Amino acid sequence: MDGYEAARAAWAADPEGWWLEAARGISWHRAPSRALFEGRGPFGQWFADGWLNTCHNALDRHIEAGFGDRLALIHDSPITGTKARFTYAALREKVAKLAGALAVRGVGKGDRVVIYMPMVPEAVMAMLACARLGAIHSVVFGGFAAPELAARIDDAEPVAVLTASCGLEPGRIVHYKPLLDAAIAQARHKPRFCLVLQREQERASLTPGRDEDFLSAMEGAAPHPCVPVEATHPLYILYTSGTTGKPKGIVRENGGHAVALHRSIGMVYGLSPGDVMFTASDVGWVVGHSYIVYGPLLAGLTSILFEGKPVGTPDAGTYWRICAEHGVKVLFTAPTALRAIKKEDPEGRLLQGHDLSRLEAMFVAGERCDPDTAQWAARLLGRPVIDHWWQTETGWAITGAFRGLGLFPLRPGSGGKPSPGFDVVVLDAAGREVPRGVMGQLAIRLPLPPSCLNTLWRAPERFHQGYLATFPGFYDTADAGMIDEEGYVHIMGRTDDVINVAGHRLSTGEMEEVLAGHPDVAECAVVGRADPIKGQVPVGLVVLKAGVNRPEQEVVAELITRVREHIGPVAAFREARVVPRLPKTRSGKILRGTIRKIADGEPYAVPPTIDDPAILQEIAQALARTEV
Ligand code: COA
Ligand code: AMP
Repeated sequence: MDGYEAARAAWAADPEGWWLEAARGISWHRAPSRALFEGRGPFGQWFADGWLNTCHNALDRHIEAGFGDRLALIHDSPITGTKARFTYAALREKVAKLAGALAVRGVGKGDRVVIYMPMVPEAVMAMLACARLGAIHSVVFGGFAAPELAARIDDAEPVAVLTASCGLEPGRIVHYKPLLDAAIAQARHKPRFCLVLQREQERASLTPGRDEDFLSAMEGAAPHPCVPVEATHPLYILYTSGTTGKPKGIVRENGGHAVALHRSIGMVYGLSPGDVMFTASDVGWVVGHSYIVYGPLLAGLTSILFEGKPVGTPDAGTYWRICAEHGVKVLFTAPTALRAIKKEDPEGRLLQGHDLSRLEAMFVAGERCDPDTAQWAARLLGRPVIDHWWQTETGWAITGAFRGLGLFPLRPGSGGKPSPGFDVVVLDAAGREVPRGVMGQLAIRLPLPPSCLNTLWRAPERFHQGYLATFPGFYDTADAGMIDEEGYVHIMGRTDDVINVAGHRLSTGEMEEVLAGHPDVAECAVVGRADPIKGQVPVGLVVLKAGVNRPEQEVVAELITRVREHIGPVAAFREARVVPRLPKTRSGKILRGTIRKIADGEPYAVPPTIDDPAILQEIAQALARTEV
């Protein structure tokens, strides 16, 4: 039996023992007496009687073990032309002081803190400082607009917001502070205070009585020790897109998260203490939480925090330069980044001159990786390119190829095989398991493993309805797919209103709500159209109210601005058409699936329930128009 099969068999035979053994990788204030506490929560609770502190596990314990001089974090910012290195001891010093600064301002265990920051070391310090206090952080991605931030502030009700004066996108400064001011003005809930990191590229004006300088507050504070918390105490809330405009607050608990992430670093990525991991994501996404911050630090690695883009900062060789310069062993990125690099530098000329001898593998996730792109990167680098499937909800890989268990042969187009801990099945609409090779709904048999959500922030009923109610006994992943004869899992795409734009998870339902709010719009539909670089991009179809007779160009420009101002630039909403009517079933349901097929030029069957098939021709003609 190979390493993977042996690990799966060991887990399946004794999940309790397998997870308790994994829990020994963590330093506990009080060790848990069991792994799964059945009868609690919707499907049990992990390590419920254990006590720990995640920040202690990420920093202090490595220092106590004699590794204080090891590099914990390297900030590499081609966009500002700066680099900074922090040993475990140096990072702990900053984090402990920042925790002290938060504590004297009234932040304690269970309080929420919103972090709205670009890719700077202080963002990582902010997350860890919250963890140190048992406060619950909620990081909001910088590409979101003020109303999105306001919605998160109202849901999380933070005591404080930590932010920066600005973020830096190629050719443009992102004015974080005015966005935050607007969000606080819009929100019902008002945070008591804000700490603002003043960056030299743009200084923000501070609101007296509410805002303080981040660095002065941090440097002037006394270091704070780690506060032990229950394993089930939330470490963070991370909002993600659902089917409506109201974001879902995924709750991550301290204990299960620490155990699963620590285990995953060896098992999934094949990394050991001292190794360098470069995850080119953003701390605003789950990949950034898990593999820029917590996973690498829990396991004693060196993590790279990259402020830049795969192309254009300054060129498509940036990833390779970073891998060579910092001795990266594993690089983790999104397929969209590889497609962007491939477009700019298909021959890999920019690889030349970079010593990649220490690079052992590349991992991709966040969206489906087309086999062409995976094979191109693998050929170029001469290293395996490993696709693995996961979600904000799980916090770590549901499927993978497991370097730490011997790396089984890769099958391009699949996300690998289920991680030990995940019982993945394919169900039909009636909830019956389908045979191998047959497409259906991907689901996970309960209980979900450690680190996975077991509620939504202050919305347990929404959690139940959204994830558990459809297939009793299973978690519905909202992804369609199949498991092939050899057990490889193939993920075909979402079955709800979520689309993946450049690896960013977005809700078409939310975009529709924004378009429908335009005074001239009677009804609308937004679908994800295939895009060669970003995977998918949204395209909107709107029907104008009777009597509105404005040029299409003008309305479309307003709709684009509206989505940018309500959701943010990250929605990449740049395409909309005015159409006379939308295709619907007789009961009035818009046929979004058919519209998407038309947009992608795929063959489609005329649905028998449609009133007038000519409508589909109108949609095809509208979408074929390149100019509005
Ligand atoms: N803060 C503020 N704005 C942001 C932002 C951030 N953190 N990230 C992106 N944006 C903005 C961009 O500036 C852009 O604005 P614009 O409309 O003014 O040009 C908009 O959001 C869309 O950005 P993006 O989708 O990133 O497109 P792009 O054309 O700028 O870049 C890629 C394309 C492929 C290079 C880029 O999408 C990329 O690096 N993708 C990788 C994503 C990734 O790592 N995801 C992690 C998931 S695991
Ligand atoms: P997020 O919560 O932002 O990580 O997005 C999760 C969604 O991204 C999943 O439900 C999938 O639709 C998609 N996804 C993530 N990883 C993969 C992968 N390796 N292959 C296919 N789709 C993926």
